[in-house]
Amino acid sequence: MQRVYSVRSTQPTHEQLALQETVFHNANGYLGVRGTLEEGAPEGMDTMRGAYVNGFYEIVPMKQAEKLTHVREDKESMINVADVQGVRFCLAGEWFSQWTGALVECERLLDMDRGITERRVTWRSPKGRETVLRFRRMASFAQPSLFLIDCEVTPLNYEGTVEVESTHLALVKNYANPNDPRLAGESECHLVPAGSLLEEDASYLSTRTRVSGLTLTTGVKHALEPAASDARTVYDPDAHAAAFRATVTLERGQPLRLQKYCVFSDARRHDDTLAAAQQAMADAFGKADALYRAQQETLAAFWESSDTTILGDNDANLSMQFNLYQLFQSAGRDGLCSIAAKGLSGEGYEGHYFWDTEMYMMPFFTLTMPELARKLLGYRYRTLDAARENARLLGHRKGALYPWRTITGRECSGYFLAGTAQYHIVGDIAYAVGMYYEATGDRDYLTREGAELLLETARLWMDVGHVVEGTFRINCVTGPDEYTCLVNNNYYTNACAKNNLEWAVRAAGLLETWGLYDEWAARLGVTREELDAFAHAAEIMYLPYDEKLGINPQDDSFLQKPVWDIAATPRENFPLLLHYHPLQLYRYQVCKQADTVLAHVLFEKLADAGVRERSFRYYEKITTHDSSLSNCIFCIEACRLGLRHEARAYFGDSVKTDLLNTHGNSKDGVHTANMGGCYMAVVNGFAGFRLCADGVRVDPFLPEGWTGLKFSFQYRGSRLRFEMEGGRYCVRLLSGGPVSVFTLEGAHRLERPGDEAEGKTR
Ligand code: BGC
Repeated sequence: MQRVYSVRSTQPTHEQLALQETVFHNANGYLGVRGTLEEGAPEGMDTMRGAYVNGFYEIVPMKQAEKLTHVREDKESMINVADVQGVRFCLAGEWFSQWTGALVECERLLDMDRGITERRVTWRSPKGRETVLRFRRMASFAQPSLFLIDCEVTPLNYEGTVEVESTHLALVKNYANPNDPRLAGESECHLVPAGSLLEEDASYLSTRTRVSGLTLTTGVKHALEPAASDARTVYDPDAHAAAFRATVTLERGQPLRLQKYCVFSDARRHDDTLAAAQQAMADAFGKADALYRAQQETLAAFWESSDTTILGDNDANLSMQFNLYQLFQSAGRDGLCSIAAKGLSGEGYEGHYFWDTEMYMMPFFTLTMPELARKLLGYRYRTLDAARENARLLGHRKGALYPWRTITGRECSGYFLAGTAQYHIVGDIAYAVGMYYEATGDRDYLTREGAELLLETARLWMDVGHVVEGTFRINCVTGPDEYTCLVNNNYYTNACAKNNLEWAVRAAGLLETWGLYDEWAARLGVTREELDAFAHAAEIMYLPYDEKLGINPQDDSFLQKPVWDIAATPRENFPLLLHYHPLQLYRYQVCKQADTVLAHVLFEKLADAGVRERSFRYYEKITTHDSSLSNCIFCIEACRLGLRHEARAYFGDSVKTDLLNTHGNSKDGVHTANMGGCYMAVVNGFAGFRLCADGVRVDPFLPEGWTGLKFSFQYRGSRLRFEMEGGRYCVRLLSGGPVSVFTLEGAHRLERPGDEAEGKTR
């Protein structure tokens, strides 16, 4: 199977421009560059020309209308860094641009096997000269500081001089849209010059953020063939920009190749960013072919471990590959950063990390690339102290309160009702720790980091909650549904807290078995009484239940509100958040996204099938799915309840959210949580995959229109493959073992590679 997504169009893509910048961006977990056209776009066209370094931020004001105590008045915001994308060609006197002359052919493609994007153009100039241009781009996985633009220009029906101009601009602005709360409000340049160096035809430009004081150095160096005697790089101190210029004379049919090596190094990772950039350039320059090969090898290994194939629906399958590729491109791998809500593809949500990583993306990484999953969890451990501090700021005497959105661990949500109040993020992170341990059995992780994180998050719940009439209650929080704020006993939050408390106790028990408890308990001041209190609170956790309807209400007051009439709401008024005052939404039963249904998916045992089905039916009538984190969860629950038709409908176009721009905002960046959610819908939904304490379980069925489904996964160091086709399915052990697989037909023990558990699909 070839994994290539491409778009052909001989019309200049005005409306599609910004969207394609997202779809064809290149990233490697460290840096991301949007797929902006090298020659630029005419003035006034909507384009977000951007390059980002994961976790590189400025501190910007977050104005609060009124002074509220301990509410943050500034936040971290991911900033646009140096623009290295500009490359222009003047072909026998005419500057190439997609916006002039005619496009005889034009194709953009993303090759997910080779890890590159390409734009191939046959251009007829206004004077009728024809040229083939190819721009290939790569954000290297082997050398994460490197972004490469590789251009080839071939005159078809003329010969003459070609002038090359390639720019390196250090001072750039962020994109802004004052009318969209999901974007920054003002377009600003957050950088000041901090040094320049021209050395061996390379330009190194350093900048520093004004408030966070972080330095970033970018280096650019060109390899040109045929060589040009007049090639030179000049620096303009006023603009803090450099430009490379050269002229070559080409025969008809003779290609010119220009390789632009761009390296990024930042002060969060390097003490001396200039030296690091110089070293990175020395490592990369002239090695494009080797780097392409390394890229292909990285991708081959990625697909081998995480291949997830849908048979019989090519569009859905290609979109699935696209989504998994984007997750791989977006994930921070150095423990210093995580996965932003838009990955490294755009400025939506300002590069912040949310619960999205733990609840929607971690399942994919945990099951396919556990080493990377551990790095992501490592980021949360690294910010545990900041979470402790945050808890104190909010008045908690103990425990750790993770911020709702952040880069380095500080709270960055301005609107605390739908931000900081989402305490469930604490339980979400703990859930991911538990799941990671369950799937990998990684004792080292639990000992060094996981157990402490579970303890500190459990402590937080003990401080937030209290016992009323024999039940443990949690007041004044916001659940995942952001159309219902500050409530008592959000079912989802309470269920997460219960799980969190149970895991803290379990982790302590495991440490005890391994003979590590005493040291751990002494270091963190844990007592037996404290652990007993955790267990007791978990046991008596209050989970709202409505006798009359036989459902779990979202919270204590939810069912007392009138129901929002979704059917009578004009289509153009969705998403509701862009059309109604928050208070108006809060007074109704209307959900932005899965909330109680998500709790039912994660914690199946807390409610029986009848309650879950009635709840599902209830919430589906009042959920708008205005968040892209929603449909996938409804899909999983529909699969579990045997609601095949609904399951297929919920999966619907979710998998194509960014390729079809179904939420209308993919130009601001990809929806990474939805991408992980689609993986969950396929694996946990259609394949019915679950982790259990002593193995894995599958309970699959094929939705209408699909002929098969295959995926690879890892469990406790073993590699396995799930395949379903023609009414049958099997789980095969590829390496490692033994692994227990539970199916409707019974329990199977896979002892050695090649052993299979088989069954008939539902
Ligand atoms: C959703 C949140 C999500 C955030 C970032 C919001 O629209 O309601 O649940 O964390 O987007 O993806």
